[in-house]
Amino acid sequence: MRGIPLFPEQASTFAADVDALYIFIIAISAFFTVAVSAAVLFFAIRYRRRHPEQVGAHIEGSLPLELVWSLIPTLISMVMFVWGAKLYYEIRRPPAEALQIYAVGKQWMWKFQHTGGQREINELHVPTGQPIKVLVTSEDVLHDLYFPAFRTKIDAIPGRYSPLWFEATKPGRYNIFCAEYCGTKHSGMIGTVVVMEPAQYQTWLAGGGSEGTMADRGARLFQDLACNSCHLDSGQGRGPSLKDILGTQVELVGGGTALVDEAYLRESILNSQAKVVRGFTPLMPTFQGLISEEGLAALIEHIKSLSPRATTTAPALVPAAAPPTSTPVAPAQGARK
Ligand code: CUA
Repeated sequence: MRGIPLFPEQASTFAADVDALYIFIIAISAFFTVAVSAAVLFFAIRYRRRHPEQVGAHIEGSLPLELVWSLIPTLISMVMFVWGAKLYYEIRRPPAEALQIYAVGKQWMWKFQHTGGQREINELHVPTGQPIKVLVTSEDVLHDLYFPAFRTKIDAIPGRYSPLWFEATKPGRYNIFCAEYCGTKHSGMIGTVVVMEPAQYQTWLAGGGSEGTMADRGARLFQDLACNSCHLDSGQGRGPSLKDILGTQVELVGGGTALVDEAYLRESILNSQAKVVRGFTPLMPTFQGLISEEGLAALIEHIKSLSPRATTTAPALVPAAAPPTSTPVAPAQGARK
């Protein structure tokens, strides 16, 4: 509808598809609502009781009629299901070549971290024409990262990484909302996503990250937390070598294997006894509460940088299990001394 902003702008590759499905479902529902209401009204008037002695006619069932009113709605709902499932899979599976960004929700702000080291609060800069994967978590309660113009959102859940992805199509400034009631200032937990042409985005990237890349900061944390005293590259340390482990399957104490991705690394840092690699004793202390979400993401980026040949981890369709404790991670900057 011209001039009436019923919908936010369509600014991602799947925004138009989401709207089309939405409009299709609304149109079908509206059609049947009107048709059924009109029929009820029409029959109520047309076949009303005119004399007190009138008796209703006895009508047997009609197989053809029953088939029609069962099969047509079945077909329509199957169209909705197949169309919806196809779109859902597209929206929920980040492409392997996506650019990765970390997001942390906390009462009441959104913090973003680029692997290049740039950090932003309530603002996110992204280029057009490139799939962006955002790993979302929370430092306190449930939030939900919502980009109306991209038609996508995901819950920010304490203790786990939930992936969201989009590919922006139009430069501009769009809203970021929190779509989960999270306390007094929930409605104020808003931000702006700034979509730029790739060239402008490169210029923007060059202007930030004075503390070095996320991997650089992670490497410093790796030393500060003394991870390097056990995780030797030689594999002779008390902990497994972290070189080239990204994307591999490790064998675990007690049987089974685990895929090394961000979620596994996260779990192994915060809840180190959960999945111990076979051949090692569970000596590692837990870092729950000792490292901030941002520090944790930097540490994970550092460990990922030790696997230069693995370009990406497997698409994180299913978020990793949360650590058994629900203690939120303390909002400290880097390691707490
Ligand atoms: Cu955060 Cu609502």
